[in-house]
Amino acid sequence: MRSLRARLVRAFTLVSLPALLLLAGVTFGYARHTYLALREAEVLRELDNNIRAHYRWRGTLAGLQPQEPPPEERNLEPERRPPPPTSLPPFLVLDPEFRVLSGVPGYPTGAVLPAARRAGLREVRVNGKAVAYLYATGTLPPLDAQSQTFLTQTALLLLGAVGLAALLATGLGAAVSRHLLAPLRALQRGVRSLTVGRAPQPLPAGPPDELGELLAAFNAMTAELERRRVASRQLSADIAHDLTTPLSVMRATLEAMLEGTLSPTPERLTRLHTQTGHLLHLTGDLRLLSLADAGDLTLHRREVSVGALLAGVVAAFEDRAGHAGVTLTVQAAGGPPAWIDPVRVTQVLHNLVQNALNHTPPGGTVTLGAEAPEAATWRLTVRDTGRGIPPEHLERVFDRLHRVDDARSAPGSGLGLSIARTLAEAHGGTLTLESRVGEGTTATLTLPRTDRAEPGRLLEKSRAPRWG
Ligand SMILES: Nc1ncnc2c1ncn2[C@@H]1O[C@H](COP(=O)(O)OP(=O)(O)O)[C@@H](O)[C@H]1O
Ligand SMILES: [Mg+2]
Repeated sequence: MRSLRARLVRAFTLVSLPALLLLAGVTFGYARHTYLALREAEVLRELDNNIRAHYRWRGTLAGLQPQEPPPEERNLEPERRPPPPTSLPPFLVLDPEFRVLSGVPGYPTGAVLPAARRAGLREVRVNGKAVAYLYATGTLPPLDAQSQTFLTQTALLLLGAVGLAALLATGLGAAVSRHLLAPLRALQRGVRSLTVGRAPQPLPAGPPDELGELLAAFNAMTAELERRRVASRQLSADIAHDLTTPLSVMRATLEAMLEGTLSPTPERLTRLHTQTGHLLHLTGDLRLLSLADAGDLTLHRREVSVGALLAGVVAAFEDRAGHAGVTLTVQAAGGPPAWIDPVRVTQVLHNLVQNALNHTPPGGTVTLGAEAPEAATWRLTVRDTGRGIPPEHLERVFDRLHRVDDARSAPGSGLGLSIARTLAEAHGGTLTLESRVGEGTTATLTLPRTDRAEPGRLLEKSRAPRWG
């Protein structure tokens, strides 16, 4: 009895059984009570008739035998009559002075009923005159054999019905639990195939309740897992490709220099040096992403003047913008200092400005904006008048290594936006892009002001003790 189904069936039975027994008990008690009340009324009527007949006949109660056998037994020979009752009869007959007419155990003949107990007495009247009183002793009237059989049979019948109903409840419980547990079994199959590393088939939609929600959540989870598995395989392939191509070129160059077919001029060495720099940059980006994935990215937040931060970014890109013939401006509104990690936010802005410069033709503008719409939030924007991003690429450019095709010629690894978004989210903020092809792109970075006591999400995670 360890399976959930067995336990459910047992629960159905255990819950229904007491209810059924209670119902049967109440029914039986009621039937017995009604039966005894009828019998009592019958005894009373009989007694009343006997007393009145006796009084009319004799003119006195003397000689009355209230406990005498019922009329049908009176003609039997004395030895065939049932023995006189030894227990208390249901009613005592009292004379008009409330004296016991014929004594029984506990109530001797002639004893006077105390006035306090005369409240419920019934009168026996002859010609409008009370000739006797009947006192109910509280004893139940004796039941004849037929009545006993009737009550026994009723009890047995009720018990049989309880047994049958319990069996029915068990059967129904088995059927219902099978139906109830079907989604769980599907889930179990799904989890098993996940455990052995197989992508499970989508589970059928469940009932519209918590179990149904669980199935839907499982389907969403496996779909996401599958997407990540494919993405990670693609990422590995892309990284291998992105590292191999420049490395092969560098090796070929170096080999040619070693063989003496290519002289190691300062320009060639500078180019090689720049390329190793790019590769180092790429591996640094990959390391940052893997740190973020593992929740080990640490933010060093402090109060930072946003205006000064933007001025630093502009200073870093002024020359490059000048060479590209692009105007770089700042439109910053004043506001409270932001509570951020200045190095990481600068890194995000550098990525965004680099992108804007990469894709804005000479004569265009790149504008850095900053405003604090609510006291708690800073919104930083980098707007360009460049070629824009086609809508179908707008979300995908945040994927690792994803680049819009004709950006292949521009410098970069395709990791910039992915890293920028990761850093924005580490600050509890967001990074979104809006773009119109041919008109330009606006990147918006929101940085909510989190309390000093409340560090960034990833920071919080990374501070958790590793041995805990
Ligand atoms: N401001 C922009 N204008 C047009 N295209 C952009 C802009 N910013 C990003 N993109 C596109 O998004 C791609 C991904 O950007 P990013 O992740 O920074 O990688 P990278 O700059 O190394 O190519 C770029 O290759 C480019 O195609
Ligand atoms: Mg970039």
